Order: sequence, then C-alpha cells, then structure tokens
Amino acid sequence: MTSTRFDPGGPLRGTVAPPPDKSISHRAAILAAMADGESAIEGCLDAADTRSTLRAVEQLGAGIEEGEPAAFGGGRRNSRRGSPSGGLDLRIRGVGLREPRGSAEAGRPLEIDVGNAGTLLRILPGWLAGQERGLWVLSGDESISRRPVDRIVEPLSVMGADLSARDGNRLPPLTVGAAPLRGIEYRLPVASAQVKSCLLLAGLLADGATEVVEPAPTRDHTERMLGAMGIAVGVEDLRTVPGVGGPPARRIRIAGPVERLEPVDVTVPGDLSSAAFLIVAALLVPGSEVRIEGVGLNPTRIGLLGILNRMGAALEVEEGLPVAGEPRGAVVARHGPLNATRVPPEEVSLAIDELPLVALAACFAEGETVVRGAGELRHKESDRIAVVVEGLTAIGAEVEAFDDGFAVRGGGGLAGGRLDARGDHRMAMLGAVAGLASGGGVEVRGVEAAAISYPAFETDLQSLLAR
Ligand code: S3P
Repeated sequence: MTSTRFDPGGPLRGTVAPPPDKSISHRAAILAAMADGESAIEGCLDAADTRSTLRAVEQLGAGIEEGEPAAFGGGRRNSRRGSPSGGLDLRIRGVGLREPRGSAEAGRPLEIDVGNAGTLLRILPGWLAGQERGLWVLSGDESISRRPVDRIVEPLSVMGADLSARDGNRLPPLTVGAAPLRGIEYRLPVASAQVKSCLLLAGLLADGATEVVEPAPTRDHTERMLGAMGIAVGVEDLRTVPGVGGPPARRIRIAGPVERLEPVDVTVPGDLSSAAFLIVAALLVPGSEVRIEGVGLNPTRIGLLGILNRMGAALEVEEGLPVAGEPRGAVVARHGPLNATRVPPEEVSLAIDELPLVALAACFAEGETVVRGAGELRHKESDRIAVVVEGLTAIGAEVEAFDDGFAVRGGGGLAGGRLDARGDHRMAMLGAVAGLASGGGVEVRGVEAAAISYPAFETDLQSLLAR
C-alpha cells in the first residue's frame, strides 16, 4: 500500500471528461451477455470493477472482442471533450438468456471472482438463479466478503431460487443453483438499485409477473437498458400527493418468462459519481473553475447536484441530448462560499455514493450539515459512516457519526494530516481532494484504491492543476 501526499494547491482550471459510468458499464456487459446476438458497447469503463464483470461474462460463455473505434461507426473521442475518456469499445456476443455456461465440470461449481464489485455480486445471481441447469459460486476480495447478500437471497428464495451463503445466508461466498422461478411482488425494505436489478433479471426467466416496489427511486439504468432490448418494463410512481414525503415510491414490473433479449448498442456516458470528486474539488479550492463534459445526468443519479445547489454552490448544468437512452451534458463548478444543509432520508438514494463528498464539502460550509436515513452507507466498499468520520476527524474536521448518517460542524475548513482510505476507492479520492483544499496537506494511505472506478483520477487532477 502506498501513501501519497496531496498538498494545498490550485486553482483547478480546465475541462475534463470523466471516466465512463461504472453502473451502466456493469449492466451493459451483463445484459449484452444475456442477449441473442452481438451488442456494441462504446466506452465501457476500463477499471478493476468492470474488468471483473467482463471476466465473469466471458466465463459464462459470452464472446468479447475489443474493437477499433472505426468498427463502431465513428471517430474516436481522444480529444477528451464531449465523451467519457479511457473507455473500451467492445463487441459482446451474447450467450442467450438460457445458455450461460453452467459448471466447471459435472458436480463442480463454476467459480466467479467478483473482485471488489458489489454490483456484479448482487446483479449477476438474478440471471443465474432461473436457469435449467448449472451451479455457480460467487466470491471476491476481503471487502466483498463483508458485503451482505441476504438482501438478494431472501427475495430470490421466495421466487423459488436455490441459493446459499456463508453465515446464515448473509455473506459471500454465494452459491447459486439452477431452479424454476415464479414471479413475486417484492417491497424492498431499503431502496437498492442492485437488488431491484437482480430481481428484474430473475423476472425475465420467472413464470408470471415480477413486481419490485422501491420506497424511493433508485438508479434506473437496468430498466432503461431492458427497454432498449425489447422488454416491456412497467414503471409506476406510487405516492402522488404533491409535496408530501419527498420523491415517490415506485413499482417496476416485468412479465415473465421472456423468450429472448435483443442485442443492444450502448454508448456509456461519463460517471457523475467519479466527476463528483472534481466538482467538489473545484468548489473548495479558491480560484477554481472546472468544466466536466459528457457526464451522465440521469435524474436518478444527480442528487448531489441538488444538495450542493442548496449549499449555495456555484454550479451550472447544461443538459445535452440523451445518448442511448441516458441523459448527458456538462457541469461547470466554480469556487465560492457554501452554507450547511440538511439531507433528509428521501434524498439519500439519489446521492448514495456521493454522501462522503457532502461531508467533505460540509467542512467548508457555514453551519451544521446533517445527513440522516443513510444507514446503507455502512454496507458499501467500507463502512462509509465510520470511515468518513474517522478520516475527516484525522485531518481536523468536527464530525459526529449516527447509526444512519453524520453531522459536520463546518466553516473552519481542514487543517490536514493523514487519512487512511481503508481500501475504499471513494475514500481515497476524497482524501486527495481534501488535501488540495486543506491548510497543511493530506497524506492519503492507499490512494491506489481509486483504480477500482477511476484509474486516471490522479492524472485528471494534475491536468486541472497544471493549467
Ligand atoms: C449501484 C447501486 C448502489 C450504489 C453502488 C452501485 C448500482 O448500491 O451504491 O455503488 O450500480 O446498482 P445499492 O443498490 O446497494 O444502493
């Protein structure tokens, strides 16, 4: 593990195209593998997490070819303007909905290493569980072995699936056997796009309708992509009294069993969750102005922008035309003063991965910022409530942890010191941004974890500092 210092610096100035969206890249690879025929994925994220997914779908029998951009009908975006940078252009030959490779050899499961990828761990079993034959075991790195799978084991078992996991079906390794499935209505106890997506994939193979009710909207990339693959996905907003109780609960419905999935062409937008580090860096470092181009602006992903807006951030959003069914555009962020805010539970699912950055921004905002209803943060790549509070406290913040969130007393900025990323990619990048904005610099232990989602993070940061 390496320690890297990030000294106060700046301003950050210039234009960056963030890396391709991780959530969309995982889904594109999995759904293309499930299709009959060849799909083209333009700009699939090339990072540790999505490499795990590509390896997994190859093991299951999908054919993956890395193409020259010309073969994908267009010029390359090396200019790093307008489209995500550093993506893979792939052709994926699907194995078909009912044909994933089933076992290593008779009686022995096919072992799938998901690495650090929680999204792969939770979504893929939805496809495998409804097969006619096969046996698979999913396991991964040390962090994955602490990530709960009971959230998918429970509903899939009600559908008839044959699943088992360590520690009372709670933790990986997760064993998936083939079994006939029936559709169910399932009310998610906690809003989760991974669980929703898993059940929708299982629903494609199940007898009858599968309906997932989410207590608050979560990222809907799976629904959009399935729609583009010829599947009728019903989406109904449930709580419609204006002004009451935040964003509506949603019911998502798929009628199974489905014959086949059409191949799909996906152009992956830039990842707002990665761009968020550069946006917050620009807000915090005096004199900065950063333009982020080609970034995904799906309404289920942009909760952070609303929160920062309320904090008084100097942000401009330019919406462009959607590409392959996903809204995208540009975000301009400028340094300026910030005020504290309250993030209520109903906003959490739209900003779940960005809440650590809300804590960082809050250190520089006048007043007390409070985030509640975010207990899910304890089940991410690290316990992100504990690790944010530990990390920010170590560099001079006044932060308090709750079971389901945190409070930050801000305004004084950060003195600096040492922050341990605890193996969590988002904490590593947060530490680097904190260093640039701090009084005395931050030494980040384990900054290499950034490669899970944003391998070029340090290069992009340097390019903005160099101007
Ligand atoms: C993701 C969903 C979220 C998010 C994760 C990616 C996805 O997790 O935190 O980084 O791609 O579906 P949950 O579904 O557990 O909320």
